[in-house]
Parts: sequence; C-alpha cells; structure tokens
Amino acid sequence: MTPHGHIPVLENEVARALSPRPGQTYADCTAGLGGHAALIAANVAPGGRVVLNDVDPGNLEAAAARVREVAPGVEVMTIRGNFAELPHHLRGMGVRADLVLADLGFSSNQMENAERGLSFMRDGPLDMRLDPTLPTTAADLVASLPEVELARLIAEYGEDKHARRIAARIVRARGEGPITTTGRLAEVVRSANGGVGGGGIDPATRTFQALRIAVNDELGCLEALMAHVEAEARAMAEGNPGGWLTRGGRVAVITFHSLEDRVVKASFERCEGLGCTDVLGGAAEASEGERGSNPRSRSAKVRCVEMPR
Ligand SMILES: C[S@@+](CC[C@H](N)C(=O)[O-])C[C@H]1O[C@@H](n2cnc3c(N)ncnc32)[C@H](O)[C@@H]1O
Repeated sequence: MTPHGHIPVLENEVARALSPRPGQTYADCTAGLGGHAALIAANVAPGGRVVLNDVDPGNLEAAAARVREVAPGVEVMTIRGNFAELPHHLRGMGVRADLVLADLGFSSNQMENAERGLSFMRDGPLDMRLDPTLPTTAADLVASLPEVELARLIAEYGEDKHARRIAARIVRARGEGPITTTGRLAEVVRSANGGVGGGGIDPATRTFQALRIAVNDELGCLEALMAHVEAEARAMAEGNPGGWLTRGGRVAVITFHSLEDRVVKASFERCEGLGCTDVLGGAAEASEGERGSNPRSRSAKVRCVEMPR
C-alpha cells in the first residue's frame, strides 16, 4: 500500500500505451486516488491539461489534490460523474482529449472501507455502490430479485457454477430475516458451498463480484463508453474532426476480469476496422515483479487504440 492507499497497476504499460507529451490533454475516466493521473500529468507539463472524472466524490477530491501537487503547472478540471457520460461533458466544455484512460472497478481504499460494503472480508452494510447517488444497493437486490434472476446474475457476472444452489440458499435465508450485511451474505453463500473450503478462493468471492457488477451496472457503463469511442472512430474515418477526442488520440482501458476484457477487445477490434491502430499489439499484462508486489495486478490487462490521424 502507498501513502495514498492504492497502488496503480500497469504503470509502465500505461505510459508506453499513452506515450504522453507536453501540452497534451489527458482525460482520466476513473481518477481514483490519482496514481495514474499523477504519472501522466507530470508528462503533459508544461502546458498540458488533466480532466479527472470519478463517481466517488472522495476519490475525485484526493486525485485532484495529488495531481495539483505533482504537476502544479498543469490545468486540472474535475467532473463527478459516470464515465459513460464523460464524452458528453467533454463536448459540452469544448475539450478534445489526446489521451484517455479507464482503469476499471474499485480502488483499494474503497474495498477496505467496511462502510462501502464491497468486501466479504470486512463486515459492514451490504451496499456496494461506488456512486453514492445510485438508488439501489446490493441489499436491495438481495432482498428483491426473484431466485431465477439471482441465479442468472451470479452465473453470468460471477461465472459461478454453483449459482443456482447459492440463489436458492439466499432466498431461503432472506425468508428467515433480511440480509443487510456483508458478513451475513458471505455466511449464507459459504453455507451453500459447504463452508470456507481449502486453499482455493473464498466461495463468496464470485457472488460478491456479481452483485458489485450489477449494482454499479459496470458492464453497461463500459459498453456505453466503448460505443462513444467507436462513434469517434467512425466520425474520423469519414473525415470529420473528433467531438471529444483528437485525431491520433489514444484510449487505453485496464480490465480486471474476462467479462470486461471481452467488451474492450471486441470494441477495439471494431475500431481497428474503422482505421484505428492497436497500439500495444493486443493486451499487455503485469511483469513478474509487479505480480509479486501487487496481487491486484495479476488479473489486470491493458489495451489501447489510436484514433485515425
Ligand atoms: C481502479 S480505481 C482507479 C485508480 C486510479 N487509476 C489510481 O491510479 O489511483 C477505479 C475508480 O473508478 C471509479 N469508477 C468505477 N466505475 C466508474 C464509472 N462508471 N464512472 C466513473 N468512475 C467510476 C471508482 O470510484 C474508483 O475510484
């Protein structure tokens, strides 16, 4: 853990992918605690601009403070919102980004804060919202979804082969009393799988991932962002200027599981069909050294496309 509470993954690979230069405009879809943003900001100085976006107001504020500290000469703009809307905001501000990064999911400080309800290792309210303004929590889904819907969600987003058994156990348990804490849900899921088990992953892992993806509509938001990138590529292929990206601008996305990576890979392939370049020649992954020092990096992949010039 750094003094900032989150170690950015794939820093070298992101720097290679985006290759920032002085004077460029960088838009960070998922500012987090500003680790990647600080790295890029230092390289777009002097004369550069950094647009920080995050759904979590606390993280956004921390990221802005960090970027201002490391790159005082760089203009910093902040947007608290979903990255699915970022292209719309950039257009509205008349800003075209040369470099865009989305580092998906959650930051370590969010996962470790029991009050956010993201972790089965820490007992807290079963919340899971990264955006505190969202109307539906994980507890709401667990209380209200029909069994078949819960099973579908755990199978699809958790890729858990025991999904039906877990959903049935959740429905039985909620009949005995509401499931409102992470600790209680973890207990229920483990009991469906016959306990904590041996050396493998905790049986609650996949169900928690599934609920988090559903609560935050993570795949829907990613698809929306990718659709905006593809629309820019199409406009540029037709000879138009970009609306929120520059010609030759680069977009990099860091994913942490196959469901996310599948969406990005397919979208970037369509972009290539529209004249974009695959900057990294596929996905780049963490080095052995990084995998050893930061377990979060082990499932991380970064892909990057360059818009038509
Ligand atoms: C992995 S962290 C980013 C860490 C950051 N790159 C750093 O180095 O500190 C992901 C961040 O994305 C935010 N986030 C997740 N989904 C989002 C969305 N759809 N729109 C905007 N922000 C989102 C989370 O609140 C979290 O702060």
